[in-house]
Amino acid sequence: METMLEQKVVAMPRIGDKAPEFKAVTTQGEIHFPIDYKGKWIILFSHPADFTPVCTTEFMTFASREEEFRKLNCQLVGLSVDGLFSHIAWLRTIKDKIEYKGMKNIEVKFPLIEDITMDVARKYGMIQPGESNTKAVRAVFFIDPKGIIRAIIYYPLSTGRNFDELKRALIAMQAADKYSIATPADWKPGEDVIVPPAGSCGTAKERMEQTNGEMKCYDWFFCTKPLVLQDLN
Ligand code: BEZ
Repeated sequence: METMLEQKVVAMPRIGDKAPEFKAVTTQGEIHFPIDYKGKWIILFSHPADFTPVCTTEFMTFASREEEFRKLNCQLVGLSVDGLFSHIAWLRTIKDKIEYKGMKNIEVKFPLIEDITMDVARKYGMIQPGESNTKAVRAVFFIDPKGIIRAIIYYPLSTGRNFDELKRALIAMQAADKYSIATPADWKPGEDVIVPPAGSCGTAKERMEQTNGEMKCYDWFFCTKPLVLQDLN
């Protein structure tokens, strides 16, 4: 058993860092991460353990919505510190036996990484000893098409993730990249976005006048405009 001193100390990746590289065995064969997915967005997410109820609801939800993420040029990749045979048996059980909230016969087609050595989980800061030494927390890494980590969300073992929020955050980042805008609190696609102040700002009135009333300004530093999202990728 590892003592505290022997435990590998790895700096946790942060937003703006290059996504740490690794090779791993998955339910869809071997992968070289993130290189295999260059040019795509990736959501890398960990779950605490196979054959547990919250994780089962999460996998069923993610798998049933995989197409929505694929259309956004986003590859899903799961991970837990279980072995490959456990993963395969659990995913087969989900497909053959579990019917939940109208979802049934759900086949998980995205790769699920086996990580019994915890090498990948440690590299990505998914093992958080205050929560569990033996299981990965529910981590979500958003990685952009250039392999840069753009957002990280952590949830405790007890709390299932909200997949509408994961999709919303992905679209918000893609829209920010494409249109050089930012998105306000609780923004949803189709709603007004925030226009960053240009070099010389002017008053709210001046900024509104410059755009023929397309923008609405609440003050000199805070203007919004409508935005129709098109072909984000
Ligand atoms: C679950 O997925 O149900 C779960 C996993 C680990 C701890 C608690 C709940």
